[in-house]
Amino acid sequence: MCLFAELPEPPDPFGLYPRYAERRDLFLASIEGPDDEALEEAFLLLYAEIHGYEVPYTPDERDRVAETGGYLSHVGGLSPILKAAPFIEPATVSGDFGAGNGLQGLLIQKLTPHAKTVQVEISSRMVEAGRLLQAWLGIPEERVEWVVGDVSEVSPAGMDFVYLYRPLRPTGRGEDFYRSFAAQLAASQRTVVIFSIADCLRPYLPPEVEVFY
Ligand SMILES: C[S@@+](CC[C@H](N)C(=O)[O-])C[C@H]1O[C@@H](n2cnc3c(N)ncnc32)[C@H](O)[C@@H]1O
Repeated sequence: MCLFAELPEPPDPFGLYPRYAERRDLFLASIEGPDDEALEEAFLLLYAEIHGYEVPYTPDERDRVAETGGYLSHVGGLSPILKAAPFIEPATVSGDFGAGNGLQGLLIQKLTPHAKTVQVEISSRMVEAGRLLQAWLGIPEERVEWVVGDVSEVSPAGMDFVYLYRPLRPTGRGEDFYRSFAAQLAASQRTVVIFSIADCLRPYLPPEVEVFY
């Protein structure tokens, strides 16, 4: 909350955060007010505005999203960001599969700095927006690797902390993705912590993988 209260307006050349000023004013006014729940709600609205509700795609990107059964920009929420810290160490390599503008991974990186965040997203425009948010948050260039591509073509090998919020529907090509992703995670030589939001992955993970939440 302190971070969001102090940051200047985010760079927005693509008009992705049209209600930012309105949301920020409401948030700042709520800080002064007596109602904690109103403050939390105003904070969530501001966070969701910067996360964005729309995903701009080129025609090719849109075709790929349709073929793979991709989900659009649903907001992953603050809870996973706040719960991540105990699982992140300075040497951690984290990854978000279906990152949108990468706000989730950027905030985890900002709150708990670590070796690298890998952001995988099909929308090239969202990745451009995310690079600008990285600079806005003052996160050094080398801390974030941006990958414009299909989650099915990127391996989680080498990652210690994997975040995904339902990038694909778990049917057809999407089911193939979760099956193969689970197999790659299970084969990892490292200890990997997975935050799978609105979880589609669990049915494909082998029993040796401990479910802790
Ligand atoms: C439910 S949103 C999650 C956004 C963000 N990670 C969060 O948790 O707030 C799913 C994201 O996956 C992206 N996506 C959909 N299909 C994809 C694909 N085949 N490859 C990569 N990203 C994809 C969408 O563009 C969208 O940004």
